[in-house]
Amino acid sequence: MIKTEFVNVTFNLGTALEKIALREINLTIPEGQFVTVIGSNGAGKSTLLNVLTGDIIPNSGKVWINYQEVTTWSSSKRAKFVARVFQNPLAGSCANLTVEENLALAYRRGSLRGFHSALNHRLRDQFRSQLARLNLGLENRLSDRMGLLSGGQRQAVSLLMSTLAPHQVLLLDEHTAALDPKTANYILQLTREIVNENRLTTLMVTHSMRQALDLGDRTLMLHEGKIIFDISGSQRQGLTVTDLLQLFEQQQQEALTDDALLLG
Ligand SMILES: Nc1ncnc2c1ncn2[C@@H]1O[C@H](COP(=O)(O)OP(=O)(O)OP(=O)(O)O)[C@@H](O)[C@H]1O
Ligand SMILES: [Mg+2]
Repeated sequence: MIKTEFVNVTFNLGTALEKIALREINLTIPEGQFVTVIGSNGAGKSTLLNVLTGDIIPNSGKVWINYQEVTTWSSSKRAKFVARVFQNPLAGSCANLTVEENLALAYRRGSLRGFHSALNHRLRDQFRSQLARLNLGLENRLSDRMGLLSGGQRQAVSLLMSTLAPHQVLLLDEHTAALDPKTANYILQLTREIVNENRLTTLMVTHSMRQALDLGDRTLMLHEGKIIFDISGSQRQGLTVTDLLQLFEQQQQEALTDDALLLG
């Protein structure tokens, strides 16, 4: 479960470079809901995810995860609830560690304590069978450095890492954007399976309207730091990509008109 109340984020407050990234974000995502997030460049999508991971502490407002208020919690303290997969396949894992070391780190929730003793036979077998499920032949590459894997292979391992510790929240920031279409589809299918099997509360940022409608139960649109559009249920079911594109343009036009009215 995720909840935000009146969350505001302004970068470089009080300077010439001041930039409002999120405005009064009020959002409740019940346990197990899968939400897709769309919006133009600079709309505030990644900032919203950063507020949930604790990488950015809002200037005002409150954040709850799993019914606990976490507004001022550090990202490491939140890591036990929240897993994240980034756009850049290089960002979610350590290139210089082996595949099994990366998995062990995820399994131990980022703790380096007892790191190598954690890699016993039982754990190695568990990792091997989980990697085999990905059907990428990675079960034979446990001791290869992560940096040797392709982007798609790394994203698949990153997704797997998010399931090793009992996370409840999964945040995906354009996690298929750097992949070729076939690998992207594979990673999306894997995302669906992992989210369903683990009943994860999920936010997935995407620039693909198709993905936004095909995956998940609800779609949010952000524009200039505001949620301008929030659809789910039957309203969302009948929607085509063309409808969504039209709404995207229409809502952005309305937001511009509102701004013009506000500015007088
Ligand atoms: N650390 C920062 N310092 C200053 N401004 C920032 C910082 N991070 C983000 N911003 C600004 O905040 C706004 C929102 O950025 P954000 O990265 O959340 O957008 P986004 O919706 O993820 O865009 P994209 O689709 O391009 O990834 C942008 O105007 C961006 O330039
Ligand atoms: Mg972004």
